[in-house]
Amino acid sequence: MSILSRTTMLATLLASALVSGGAAQAAPKEINWGSVAAAKTVLFYPGQTSMEWILTGTDHGGARAFKKNDRCFECHSEEAADMGTKMVTGAKAEKTPIPGKRPAIPLQVKAAYDAEYLYMRFEFPAGPHSPVPFAQGGKMDPANEIKLAMMIDGGKVDMAARSGCWTSCHSDNRDMPTAPAAAALGAAKGIDTKAGFVTKYVPESRTQFDTTKRDNWDKVKPQADLDALLKGGSFLELLRYKSSGASEHGYILAERVLKADPAVAFTGKKDGANWVVTMTRKLKADQPGAVNLEAGKSYVVGIAVHDDFTSGRFHHVSLDLKLGLDAEGEIKAVKQ
Ligand code: HEC
Repeated sequence: MSILSRTTMLATLLASALVSGGAAQAAPKEINWGSVAAAKTVLFYPGQTSMEWILTGTDHGGARAFKKNDRCFECHSEEAADMGTKMVTGAKAEKTPIPGKRPAIPLQVKAAYDAEYLYMRFEFPAGPHSPVPFAQGGKMDPANEIKLAMMIDGGKVDMAARSGCWTSCHSDNRDMPTAPAAAALGAAKGIDTKAGFVTKYVPESRTQFDTTKRDNWDKVKPQADLDALLKGGSFLELLRYKSSGASEHGYILAERVLKADPAVAFTGKKDGANWVVTMTRKLKADQPGAVNLEAGKSYVVGIAVHDDFTSGRFHHVSLDLKLGLDAEGEIKAVKQ
């Protein structure tokens, strides 16, 4: 190696150390997952049960109790698979069932952290292929056999602490019961509807949240208000792995914002009969829309898997779960 290229290399190293605040960042560790206890949970098929549905007594038996502060988890954690059966078969809240789709997926989650990173490991059984009758070739997303996503609530989104993802799932989202017709989409200012549908949002981003008419999608607050909400933490962070290889990172406020992010590293592979997905994420918030994670605290998370080449709402989801960094939670991250 020439002296010049050595000097350049040194300069580059120094520059990166300076960018990261003077001290070089420690690289993520290899976690010995065998020594970490797994939290076991069940992801279930939710059909078209939006937040508006959850809050309406004639739709949802738990509406009153939920409004009085009960968590979804308290009532439903033992029966997730039975719930999934009702929606996946079309017996409840599902207009376009996929024949043969599994009602639920058992999921094992492990978590650990060190001074700089949160590490997670997800494992679940791969399922049989059930062709989707309304997708060409039976696959909605032929490039991705699975996708795994996690939302993190930093504690500032209304109802998220008791409902996890649900507060971002609405009746007027893509393929949901009151989704606006494509021709009407231009009416919404402040969100991007070019893809032909409305993505997830949190109710705080709208000037109204009408759970009867369920037409809140285009009542977007002015940009200055949305900027203030983002700054103040009123968003759900979103992390996603695609089995084609991408690691994406973003958040949900007025809409879903999701981009490739080198600061989040997912890996995944089918290991025998199971999918194993691992994630490394900096504890510190590295961008707007990221939650600053701290040891000794718990965060509500929601986990979703799109199995069998599905997309959009045709996923399996967890109830609200708590991730505790050496703190209370169904998923316990232990310091390594
Ligand atoms: C106080 C207990 C309670 C709470 C809290 C609660 N639910 Fe329910 N939920 C019920 C009852 C009761 C039913 C109706 C069950 C039936 O008809 O057999 C139900 C039905 C459902 C169903 C349809 C499947 C089924 O078994 O009928 C879904 C999905 C559901 N709840 C999701 C949620 C979510 C998500 C939350 C939190 C946002 C939540 N529930 C909070 C009690 C509750």
